[in-house]
Amino acid sequence: MKKNTSKLQSVFRGALLCGLLLCPLLDAISEAAGLNPRMRHRLSTQEHHGLGSEGPGVCPQQRFTATAPREIREQTNPVEANHKNLEAGRSFFHTDAQPTACKVCHGPGGNGLGMMARGLNPPPRNFSCNETMKYISDGQLFWIIKNGSPETGMPPFKQNLKDEDIWKIILYIRNFAKNN
Ligand code: HEC
Repeated sequence: MKKNTSKLQSVFRGALLCGLLLCPLLDAISEAAGLNPRMRHRLSTQEHHGLGSEGPGVCPQQRFTATAPREIREQTNPVEANHKNLEAGRSFFHTDAQPTACKVCHGPGGNGLGMMARGLNPPPRNFSCNETMKYISDGQLFWIIKNGSPETGMPPFKQNLKDEDIWKIILYIRNFAKNN
């Protein structure tokens, strides 16, 4: 029993040592090497504060997703692309969509590498990949967000999002590929 306790204590001491000495030391070394804080952060961890991974994601990305019925696939976004609608879309994407916000799988930057993405096969769509996104119509996006993609990790949102809300999200996710 006593042995266990002292082992625990030394583990604790080890953790303290890392926290107080080692990590600042590593920081100091990388600072001396001329790396900026962002690069240092990348070096220390690929994960970004538990939100998933940064980077461009897989692009182009192969799709095996079912095709929406024609009359829906051909619909264009009826919601006006103004600031208010875009911000509403942003809130749904990052926090408000229930039961799980889109960013958890699709990543805060839309790259498809959200924190729940690992282990999902097929992987979440990479919205930042213009090469793939340019071939997907607004109506197609709408159909999958509403009904989900059966037998994949993509859940249906029709219970929790009004059609209008889905269109607002589409306004927002289209922006991820705009500069690529
Ligand atoms: C639990 C993980 C998860 C969550 C949460 C999630 N998705 Fe997905 N999403 C996926 C996966 C996995 C796919 C890939 C499905 C496939 O390949 O058919 C996908 C695919 C998509 C597609 C691709 C449609 C196409 O035809 O290519 C769209 C659009 C989409 N998601 C939008 C959203 C939006 C918007 C939200 C939030 C309201 C959301 N997703 C939440 C996992 C998720």
